[in-house]
Amino acid sequence: MPIADLGVDSLQLVMFGGKGGVGKTTAAAATALYLSESYNTLLISTDPAHSIADSFRISIDHRIKSHENIPNLSLYEVDAEQALETFKKDNDKEIKKLMDTSTSFDQEDIDAFLSLPVPGIDEVMGFKTVVDLIDEAKYEKYVIDTAPTGHALRLLSSPGLFDDWVKVMAQLRWKYRYMVTRFSGKYTPDDADDFLLKMKKTIKKIQNLLRDPAKSKFVAVTIPETMAIEETRRLLSRLEAMQIEVKDIIVNNVLTSEGCQFCMQRKQSQKRYLDEIVSTFSNQKPTIIPLQPSDVSGLDSLRIIRDILFED
Ligand SMILES: Nc1ncnc2c1ncn2[C@@H]1O[C@H](COP(=O)(O)OP(=O)(O)O)[C@@H](O)[C@H]1O
Ligand SMILES: [Mg+2]
Repeated sequence: MPIADLGVDSLQLVMFGGKGGVGKTTAAAATALYLSESYNTLLISTDPAHSIADSFRISIDHRIKSHENIPNLSLYEVDAEQALETFKKDNDKEIKKLMDTSTSFDQEDIDAFLSLPVPGIDEVMGFKTVVDLIDEAKYEKYVIDTAPTGHALRLLSSPGLFDDWVKVMAQLRWKYRYMVTRFSGKYTPDDADDFLLKMKKTIKKIQNLLRDPAKSKFVAVTIPETMAIEETRRLLSRLEAMQIEVKDIIVNNVLTSEGCQFCMQRKQSQKRYLDEIVSTFSNQKPTIIPLQPSDVSGLDSLRIIRDILFED
């Protein structure tokens, strides 16, 4: 069954997630190829081990690049660390002020603190880059090739992790406001307050986008093998806990040939796992991608996967 509803106007974001090596990049690239036929589409990779350029057999750097031969398709491999550095530079003054007035840190402490990793902040920045792009509305559809499960979950839960950090800062700030108000009788919000508010809004925006099934869709990708099924189970339950609904599951590398003894045995073993996938993930609609005779890279083979995914 093909993946449906991607053409709905309100749907902006399609994310692919799953274990390493199951076919996330392949599915994301084929989907972007499909969408670019009708929509101005941006394919984004948030996997630090980027491979969307390899999938299309082109070279890109950490900037948005339109595909030379496919109108309406652009590609972008997000550098989350770079996004974080830019963010720190842009907000350096506000962050320092916040730390200075809200804690008893001296300048050296503040510098040391800022060089520490805040839980999930680089991922938040990666996602912020995506949300900012969506805000700019230059594209109609955004397809994300996410990192393997663990990292992607961290990415998806990072707004929550980061939210906790912002809350602690806000509490400290609140104490500061209280003291200032007590001693001077009034308090005027400053840059640091604006900054906290801005961060809260960013987090809320990311969460709202991910949790709104009208705006975004998460597609799980798996293969008929026991470890992949286990990992998919964990992924789906974590996503559910984050209130992110998953309606589609792609089952990749399914053997169709019966031409040899080995193929028949493999097919037999896959049959058991396919049945398990269908019964375990009964809330998700399965789409099967047969195992191809060779790996999938370059336009011709991506078009084959596109047709498998989207032709009735
Ligand atoms: N259906 C398929 N048949 C044959 N090779 C495939 C298929 N799907 C993916 N591949 C190949 O398997 C490898 C892993 O796929 P990839 O999409 O990069 O996985 P992921 O992004 O989940 O790590 C790639 O070399 C890709 O070309
Ligand atoms: Mg990949």
